[in-house]
Amino acid sequence: MRLDLSDQILLVTGASRGIGRATAEALAEAGGTVAVHYGHSDDAAAEVVEACGPDARSFQADLSTVDAVDGLVDQVVDTYGRLDALVLNAGVAMATPLDADTDDWHAAWSDTMHVNLRAPELLSRHALRHFQSRQPTGGRIISIASRAAFRGDTPDYMTYAASKAGLVALTRSLARGFGEDDVKAFTVAPGFTRTDMAQDFIEEYGEAHATRDLALNRLTEPDDVASLVVFLASGQADHATGTTIDVNAGSYVH
Ligand SMILES: NC(=O)c1ccc[n+]([C@@H]2O[C@H](COP(=O)([O-])OP(=O)(O)OC[C@H]3O[C@@H](n4cnc5c(N)ncnc54)[C@H](OP(=O)(O)O)[C@@H]3O)[C@@H](O)[C@H]2O)c1
Repeated sequence: MRLDLSDQILLVTGASRGIGRATAEALAEAGGTVAVHYGHSDDAAAEVVEACGPDARSFQADLSTVDAVDGLVDQVVDTYGRLDALVLNAGVAMATPLDADTDDWHAAWSDTMHVNLRAPELLSRHALRHFQSRQPTGGRIISIASRAAFRGDTPDYMTYAASKAGLVALTRSLARGFGEDDVKAFTVAPGFTRTDMAQDFIEEYGEAHATRDLALNRLTEPDDVASLVVFLASGQADHATGTTIDVNAGSYVH
């Protein structure tokens, strides 16, 4: 089986670093044309565009603001004429301890919910309208959630777990609600994956916290997640729409 994305335009959010970067590059390697979204890492995004080939373009948008999110899908469609798949990868994990200052508590919950849930909801809305406008061909939405959506997280990261649980429910609803428009939606739920985000956890809780539950003997790498996204984007798994696939090295099986 060869996974060929040469007829697809795919938008990956948070493609400047980590899982998003590996995913953008893997999609391009499979022939896809990748719209590389980033927030603040301009230089890193430029490197990813370079790696993704001549048709790749970068798109900047701060996903913590409604206005920036609202224009992103339209910019991609204006550039390429269409969009075939949306990979909702960008995310933040902010420590929000119970004894945080009340203003800081509100700000962290609000920012996390905006980047991890509201931005995916708004981007999905725009993508759905585009997919509906070009029937009979719909499109695919692939959400990068987290193991934390299912097993919860440490007390400091309740907001992160809650935002990811919302993303899972959103993605399942997209699959169930828009299948008749030929929209397929999948969730990928990584465990600890070797990126800047995981490094922040490791610095806070120690390396053992990241590795102690693993069934496999090595930490998940961004490429382990990226290859799965390529498979889901290829159409080979369309009848698994609505599903969640765990990528957590056997650390949490539910
Ligand atoms: N790493 C893990 O252990 C792990 C585990 C489970 C789930 N995940 C999920 O996997 C996804 C990718 O995580 P990662 O580990 O690759 O994270 P990462 O290395 O910290 O990268 C985060 C990406 O999201 C973008 N981003 C963050 N805030 C943004 C904002 N306000 N506006 C626009 N873009 C923003 C960043 O773009 P800029 O740098 O350009 O701003 C960056 O490209 C996230 O949804 C995360 O929750 C990760």
